[in-house]
Amino acid sequence: MESLDQKRIVIRAPGRINLLGEHLDYNHGIVLPAAINRYIEFEFEKSDAHFFRFEALDLNENWQFSLEDLKNINSQGWQSYVKGVILLMGLDSAFANDQLTTLKGLIVRFKSNIPIGAGLSSSAALCCGLAYGLNEWFGLGKSRMELALIAQQTEHQYAGVQCGLMDQVASLFGKENHLIAMDCLTNEITSFSLPLVGVQLFLIDSKVKHNLASSAYNQRRETLQKAWNRAKDLFPSLSSWRALDDKRAAQLMSALDLESQKRLQYVRQEIQGVEAIQALSVALNNKADFEMYQSLGSLLNQTHFGLRDLYEVSCEEIDHLQTALLKNPKVLGARMMGGGFGGCLLVLASKELQFSTLNTIFKTYEDLYHRKPTVEIVSLVEGVHRLV
Ligand code: GLA
Repeated sequence: MESLDQKRIVIRAPGRINLLGEHLDYNHGIVLPAAINRYIEFEFEKSDAHFFRFEALDLNENWQFSLEDLKNINSQGWQSYVKGVILLMGLDSAFANDQLTTLKGLIVRFKSNIPIGAGLSSSAALCCGLAYGLNEWFGLGKSRMELALIAQQTEHQYAGVQCGLMDQVASLFGKENHLIAMDCLTNEITSFSLPLVGVQLFLIDSKVKHNLASSAYNQRRETLQKAWNRAKDLFPSLSSWRALDDKRAAQLMSALDLESQKRLQYVRQEIQGVEAIQALSVALNNKADFEMYQSLGSLLNQTHFGLRDLYEVSCEEIDHLQTALLKNPKVLGARMMGGGFGGCLLVLASKELQFSTLNTIFKTYEDLYHRKPTVEIVSLVEGVHRLV
């Protein structure tokens, strides 16, 4: 079980974007995320002391514990994720059963340039990078999918967020210059390229932190679960939201309250949006054509309007930025990204879009909301990997 004499390893775990398929990972959909060049980096080092020590370098916080005690130690913030990953990987019981016989101390130092609460999945990067590193360090032989599931369970059990699996898959399975298509019914993962000729994807951070997100997120999930139970009562052979045709949808809608109707309408619209993007990416790989980018942009906008009006997970600041961006003809599409209630917008724009134009938009935003947005060009990178 234990690997021999490792003195030091360094792991890099990326954050993610999602092109389309927002809130579909727990709604039987296909999601289209990618790992991006924002990372948490971990350094694992052996120590002779008999405890684990974690150093969150950016926060200047340290935490040290012995494995036997971990279960009973209270934790908060980043420490809860660390605790969850270690316990869900079964390291404490392996230690208690003497399987980690020569285990001595371990020091893990980590630092991050993924903004917290910006919708770029910093917590997934934390859990996935840590799980990957521990897997390497102790030679546990777990697959990337097993690590993704451990990271997801950590969110469920130790952070109280009933998230889907998209963020973890993006962080662990990312591929340079590629998007991932994950079928959330089967967990099947493929990757595809989206040629960007004359256009660019940007991320704009609204600097609104999504504090309310976890409770609202769990509520959305519950609403859709109830609607699904209702759908199964009406149509026992229905296999997924993807298989719900218009006729049965109309029948189901009349059995749902207004709020559930809106949420489900969004989900159905988004499922169609993903299908359209998949078809567009195939066409763009054959021949890049500006009109197709315009269609891609419209699909991003449509998702935003659905998230704003039907799923109701946007916020005033993000909507302001989206509206202002769309007034510029060089912007083809813009939408809020991630769980919602703040964070980043994903923007598709012509390469000719000037940063000075964005600065004018940001200035008005800053005057109104007293927050200073930032912008960067997105690059798609490899998922969690070892640097040293
Ligand atoms: C958060 C969750 C994901 C996903 C997105 C919305 O990032 O962690 O599982 O549901 O929101 O698409």
